[in-house]
Amino acid sequence: MSLDKRVAELRRRQAAALAGGGAQRTQRQHEQGKLSARERIELLLDEGSFEETDQLVTHRGTDFGLDRLRIPGDGLVTGHGRIAGRLVFVFAQDFTVLGGSLSETNANKICKIMDAALRVGAPVIGLNDSGGARTQEGVLSLAGYAEIFLRNTLASGVVPQISAIMGPCAGGAVYSPAITDFIFMVEGTAHMFVTGPDVIKTVTHEEVTKEELGGARTHNQISGVAHFLTHNDTECLQAIRELLAFLPSNNLDDPPLRPTADPADRLAPALDSIVPAASHLPYDMRDVIHAVVDDGYFFEVQEHFAANLVVGFGRLDGASVGIVANQPAHLAGVLDIDASVKGARFVRFCDAFNIPLVTFEDVPGFLPGTRQEFGGIIRHGAKLLYAFAEATVPKITVVTRKAYGGAYCVMSSKHIRTDVNYAWPTAELAVMGPEGAVNVVYRREIEQAADPAALRQAKVEEFRDRVANPFLALERGYLDAVIQPAETRRRLIGSLRMLRNKRASNPPKKHGNIPL
Ligand code: HXC
Repeated sequence: MSLDKRVAELRRRQAAALAGGGAQRTQRQHEQGKLSARERIELLLDEGSFEETDQLVTHRGTDFGLDRLRIPGDGLVTGHGRIAGRLVFVFAQDFTVLGGSLSETNANKICKIMDAALRVGAPVIGLNDSGGARTQEGVLSLAGYAEIFLRNTLASGVVPQISAIMGPCAGGAVYSPAITDFIFMVEGTAHMFVTGPDVIKTVTHEEVTKEELGGARTHNQISGVAHFLTHNDTECLQAIRELLAFLPSNNLDDPPLRPTADPADRLAPALDSIVPAASHLPYDMRDVIHAVVDDGYFFEVQEHFAANLVVGFGRLDGASVGIVANQPAHLAGVLDIDASVKGARFVRFCDAFNIPLVTFEDVPGFLPGTRQEFGGIIRHGAKLLYAFAEATVPKITVVTRKAYGGAYCVMSSKHIRTDVNYAWPTAELAVMGPEGAVNVVYRREIEQAADPAALRQAKVEEFRDRVANPFLALERGYLDAVIQPAETRRRLIGSLRMLRNKRASNPPKKHGNIPL
């Protein structure tokens, strides 16, 4: 073949790769409110930074007419580029080519960039929009999925892995995103389920729509599978960029610094009066977080799930921190199964990626009831305890009000290797609230009293004065200091500076056995 012919052939194949499934299918994609795979990558990465790999790879299938459907790239765009100047690897499934279905070739392309990402220590971002296993390829496609799952698992805790669901993601295909660290979903177009509505109708006779079963709201609010709900492709891709700004490129790196004009010693006077005098009244812990972090900027994770525990990223003194906070404005900030699982996964992510943990604590305990007990609150609550206990990153806790019962131990208490434990003057550290304590300790006396109500009230006051306060913990050193709420930012930054070179590790082992 002459050089001219070779170049012409190359151009033809490149043009075919860029055209994907053709103008008509691309138009259908747009009509559904979805961008094409290449448009998504363009928006995700810094302008002009994308280096495509395997653009001309094709599948090798011949059965069921596949030989007539051989499109260069095979419906998957892979490569690497930059986000805010930092290297990332990316793949995007192209629904216009055989429904973005995963072929053996597709899987090889994904594995190739994952292997490269692991070698050089860079995040992997997957933009999912696929009909699942390529039906015509049978077990070859399933094998491809399994190869990806293996790499997801091996890369877990080494490089951040982020999945965006921007179309269908069904069957076993969901398990790759499920292993990754964060799942973004686009409302209206993203659907995730292990078995779809038709199968469900046949097997269980339940009628459910795709959206109800596996839409973005369902997985953000009810199942907790997803971490971010976005309203369109552009917002989704922008949010991924925002998240990455808090994360290191790998587990040996530190998260990037973002210098700020927000003074390290800035006081937040509003915090001095944020906790209501009556300890059963709510306040919004997010107001506390916003008042403390750099520029009031908090990037919340799983905002719509288990609202009784708030988790997310912020910065202090320009450095990323992971924030875990009980939310008194929702279910009084109680810990339940969902909150425990949500918190545990977040804590473990931060610990794996060298992101210090700041805990704001106001927790009345674990949620009572048969639903929680039958659902396994014992093993799920243990996850959060285990996660905080094994974490070796700098850990700082601020008790704003209640630290009751087992939840006191769980929420990054001094005893599980937390470096700095502060309390506000409003802190109450006790086995339970004064009312509950009086019922346990004085029930018989109260029943037999001439005026039970008066005695109960007197005992409650006595408990509140003598036990529900920070003093016993201060005497024992379980708290390092009581601080004025307004100075929380300054104190946290001071502690983080002190902890900058923290070295801690766990006993050598293959891996622990977190109660799953
Ligand atoms: C091959 C597929 C495909 C697939 C879709 N297509 N899914 N080709 N393998 N899995 C093709 C269609 O034939 C069609 O080709 C084009 O993609 C667009 O599909 P439509 O059906 O026209 O699109 P839409 O109406 O939007 O419906 C999308 C869909 C539907 C809901 C995803 O296509 C669908 O139900 N597909 C099958 C899903 C499925 O059962 N997958 C296997 C899941 S199990 P033309 O040429 O007409 O444009 C699985 C196991 C993974 O994935 C195991 C891992 C362990």
